[in-house]
Amino acid sequence: MTEITIRRPDDWHVHLRDDAMLEAVLPFTARQFGRAIVMPNLAAPVTTPAMAADYRRRILQALPDEKAAENFIPLMTCYLTDDTAVNDIQNGYADGVFAAAKLYPANATTNSAHGVTDITRLEPVFAKMQEMGMPLLLHGEVTDPAVDIFDREAVYIDQVLTPLIEEFPTLKIVMEHVTTKDAVKFVRAHKGQMAATITAHHLMISRNDIFAGGIRPHRYCLPIAKREVHRLALREAATSGDSCFFLGTDTAPHPIDDKEAACGCAGIFTAANALELYTQVFDEENALDRLEGFASLHGPAFYGMDANEGSVTLVKENWRVPGTIAVPDGSSVHPFRAGETLNWKLKN
Ligand code: NCD
Ligand code: ZN
Repeated sequence: MTEITIRRPDDWHVHLRDDAMLEAVLPFTARQFGRAIVMPNLAAPVTTPAMAADYRRRILQALPDEKAAENFIPLMTCYLTDDTAVNDIQNGYADGVFAAAKLYPANATTNSAHGVTDITRLEPVFAKMQEMGMPLLLHGEVTDPAVDIFDREAVYIDQVLTPLIEEFPTLKIVMEHVTTKDAVKFVRAHKGQMAATITAHHLMISRNDIFAGGIRPHRYCLPIAKREVHRLALREAATSGDSCFFLGTDTAPHPIDDKEAACGCAGIFTAANALELYTQVFDEENALDRLEGFASLHGPAFYGMDANEGSVTLVKENWRVPGTIAVPDGSSVHPFRAGETLNWKLKN
C-alpha cells in the first residue's frame, strides 16, 4: 500500500500549553486531528469550568486560520485536586465545558504539584462522574520514591486502580499513555469500563533508546519508556483492532533549554509528525487496515461521541523531520525523530 485515507482522527491526550508555546504547537495538532483532549496541567492548573472556558478561548484564538477553526475542536479537561468541588464537575460537564477530568497523583509529572494527595477525598467527585458518564483520565503512576521508576505503573494498577474500579464499577476510566504489558492486560480485562491511550513514542522506543550512546533528553518522558517486552505488548495492543485502545499522543513540548539541562523536563514533542509516526508503526506491523479504528473510531466510541466527518490521507514517501521548531518567544522545541527520515507523509 502506498497511500491510505482514514476518517479524520482525534488526539485523546495532548499538551497544548499557553502563550507563545501554544501558538507554536497548536497548528500541528489542528492540521491532523478533528478534536483533542487538552490536558489541564498549565503552570496555573485548569481546575474550574471558568478557567477551562478561558483556556478554550485562548486555544481557539491561537488557531492559525479559518480552515483550522472549521476543522478543530479542543475538548477541555478538569485538573482534579484534593479540593475539587462536586458542583464544578457537575456543572462543567453538564454545560459542555469539561469533556473529562484528569487525575495527576501529586508530583507524578510536569506541573502536578497541585495534584491529588489523597484519592479517597475525591470519592464524591467520582460518584458524580460515574452517575453522569463523565470519563476519568488517569496518570497511572505511584509517586512513592521507594518504588522503582520502571515499576510505578504496574504498582499503580495493584495499589490504586484495582480498588478504584471495585468501588466505582461503572465509572468510565481511561488509563493514559500506558507503557507496560501489565496495563495492556488490565485494561483488556476491564474492557467496557476502561480504555487506554497509547503514544507514538512508546510504540517506537524502549528504555534502551533513552541511553543509546549517551543520555538522550528528548526521549525522556513520563511514564518513562520501559523494556522491549513492554514496547512489543503496546504494539500488539494498538494494532490488535481492540476497541479499548486508542490514539493519544501525549505530545508534551518543552523549550530545548529545559530539556537539555542538568535536571531536564519530562515530555516528548510528537505533534509535528504524530500521524506519520503511528502510520509507520501500523505499516511495520502489517496492520494499516486497523489504523482507522485506533486513530479515528475507538476514541469517540468510548467517549460517547460521533466519529469525525472528513478524512486525512497519508502517502508512502520519505521526508526528513526538521531539526528544531521555532517558538515565537525565541525558544525552540525538538520534534521527536528530529533530523531523521520517516516514510509516511500526511497529505494536505
Ligand atoms: C507531560 C508534560 O510535560 O506536561 N510530560 C510527560 O512526560 N508526558 C506531563 C504528563 O503527561 O505526564
Ligand atoms: Zn500527558
